[in-house]
Amino acid sequence: MKIVVIGGTGLIGSKLVNKLREHGHEAVAASPNSGVNSVTGEGLAEALKGASVVVDVSNSPAWEDAAVLKFFETSTRNLLTHEAAAGIGHHVALSVVGIDQMSESGYFRAKIAQEKLIKEASIPYSIVRATQFFEFVKGIADISMVGDKVHLPPVLFQPMAADDVASAVGTIAAAPPVNGMVEIGGPEQFRIDELVRRRLAALKDPREVIADPKALYSGAKVGLKTLVPDKTARLGETRFETWLTKSAAQTPTRKVG
Ligand SMILES: NC(=O)c1ccc[n+]([C@@H]2O[C@H](COP(=O)([O-])OP(=O)(O)OC[C@H]3O[C@@H](n4cnc5c(N)ncnc54)[C@H](OP(=O)(O)O)[C@@H]3O)[C@@H](O)[C@H]2O)c1
Repeated sequence: MKIVVIGGTGLIGSKLVNKLREHGHEAVAASPNSGVNSVTGEGLAEALKGASVVVDVSNSPAWEDAAVLKFFETSTRNLLTHEAAAGIGHHVALSVVGIDQMSESGYFRAKIAQEKLIKEASIPYSIVRATQFFEFVKGIADISMVGDKVHLPPVLFQPMAADDVASAVGTIAAAPPVNGMVEIGGPEQFRIDELVRRRLAALKDPREVIADPKALYSGAKVGLKTLVPDKTARLGETRFETWLTKSAAQTPTRKVG
């Protein structure tokens, strides 16, 4: 199958393209770097020619509320219009577990808007809602600073390795559309403040992490289980400690999602 991966040069996209190729698919990594821009429409018609599936794992380069909303709305509208013209039979998009409860956050409002456009369009679809990536745990500290300390609500979360995200998205992309949502998560639950503290310690990052029940997550109030996937979620295999050991030299700078 020809599968076009929008955002195919990103963290998840690059892993996904490799995995799809390993499974014998013709995977095309589409992004501004390869001349395909889902916001302007540049290169889209050409990239989609002869494709069966489009997987959207792109992310906005700008993070202000209005900019991120404009990115996901414009990009998703463009993709769906070009997909209809090209006869694409399956649109797969990567979203985030719990976003319905986090509309106070500009980023999550943009992801909600993206999902809505997909559900209302005519293209058969699968929306994959993932929990936070291990690679993003340091990024959580970066977006949770109050003064010089990290403030996080002591809620549960069930993060997963980007590698497991890419495997799950690849499996879903190669299967028939579910016309609904699939949740994916990691194999273990943690308290978010505790895991961020562990990650910073492993990076020898001296920032103190405060468990603060009033703290927001990415600008939104969250409950104990907002970030935890549902019971039917497909779980990745990689445990945090295994990933940490393997990526000891890694210094991720991932953003929210
Ligand atoms: N971070 C998390 O914990 C988390 C959790 C659940 C879900 N997610 C979701 O996962 C998705 C992927 O995240 P990621 O961390 O893999 O992203 P990323 O590494 O930041 O990669 C973003 C990709 O989007 C591409 N892109 C940017 N502007 C584009 C445009 N106008 N047209 C086409 N492609 C464009 C980039 O291309 P260039 O390289 O050419 O700039 C890059 O390939 C996001 O939608 C996010 O919401 C994230």
